[in-house]
Amino acid sequence: MSGRIRSDGRSSPVGYLREHGFWWAVTLGALTPLAWLGWRAANGDLGVDPVNTINNLSGRTAMIVLLLSLACTPLNTIFGFRKALTVRKSLGLIALVYASLHLINFVGLDYGFDFGLIFQDAVLNKPYILAGSTALLLLIPLAITSTRGWMKRLGRNWKRLHRLVYAAGVLVVLHFLWQAKAAEREEPLIYAGVLALLLIVRIPSVRRWLVTHRTRLVGPKPPRVQTMQRAKPVKQSGD
Ligand code: HEM
Repeated sequence: MSGRIRSDGRSSPVGYLREHGFWWAVTLGALTPLAWLGWRAANGDLGVDPVNTINNLSGRTAMIVLLLSLACTPLNTIFGFRKALTVRKSLGLIALVYASLHLINFVGLDYGFDFGLIFQDAVLNKPYILAGSTALLLLIPLAITSTRGWMKRLGRNWKRLHRLVYAAGVLVVLHFLWQAKAAEREEPLIYAGVLALLLIVRIPSVRRWLVTHRTRLVGPKPPRVQTMQRAKPVKQSGD
C-alpha cells in the first residue's frame, strides 16, 4: 500500500488510480461508441442512411450497456468482484444517454417531429415502439433517484423502485426481438438468453447455491480494505 496515502491523508495519483481506475476505464469505454458516432457525424461518414446508422448504433449500445449494468450485482455476489458495484450506476446512466439519443433520432431525424404521424404510424401500428418507449420511461425515474440523497429519502423503497430496471431490460429485449425480421432473430435471442441468465441468478435459492459453490471453490470474499482515506462506501442496495 506504500505510496497510496500521502502524509496529509489525501490519496496519491497511484492510489487514486487503484481506487477509481476501474470506474474510469469502464465509463470511458461505455462512452467510446458515442465519441465514435460524433466523430463519424462530424466527418459526414454515417453511410447512405445516417438515420439508420444512428438508430442502430444508439439502440444496440443502449441495450448492451443496460445489460452490463444488470450484470454488476451478480458479478459481485457470485464471483466476489466488488469493483463491479462501483460502475453499476454510471452504466445505467450511460444506457439512458444512448436510449435518449435513440429517441431523439427517431422523433427528430426520422419523423421530423411530426407527432401526429408518430402516433398514427409508429405508436398504433408498431407495438415494439410501445415496448421501447415504456422501457425508456422506466429508466427516467431510476436515473433521477440514483443519487445518495434519493437513496436516503426513499429508504427501503429505493431498492423496490430500482428493481424496475429488470422490467426495463425485458422490454428492451422484447423491443429488439419484435422489430427484427424473422431471419434476423438470432442476435436478439442471444441478448434474451443473457438477460434470462441475469434474472435466473437473482432467484434467492439459485443465488445461495452459487455463493456456496463459489465459496467452496475459491474461498469467501476478501474483507473490505479499510484505508485512512475517506473511501466512498460501495452501495449494495440493488442486491
Ligand atoms: C423511446 C422509445 C424508443 C423508440 C421510439 C425506438 C425506436 C426504434 C426503431 C424505429 C427501431 C428500428 C426498427 C427498424 O429498423 O425497423 C429501433 C431499433 C432498436 N432499438 Fe429502439 N426505440 C426506443 C427505445 C429503445 C430503448 C430504450 C432501447 C435500449 C435500451 C432500444 C434498443 C433498440 C435496439 C437494440 C434496436 C435494434 C437496432 C438494430 O437493428 O441494430 N430502443 N428502435
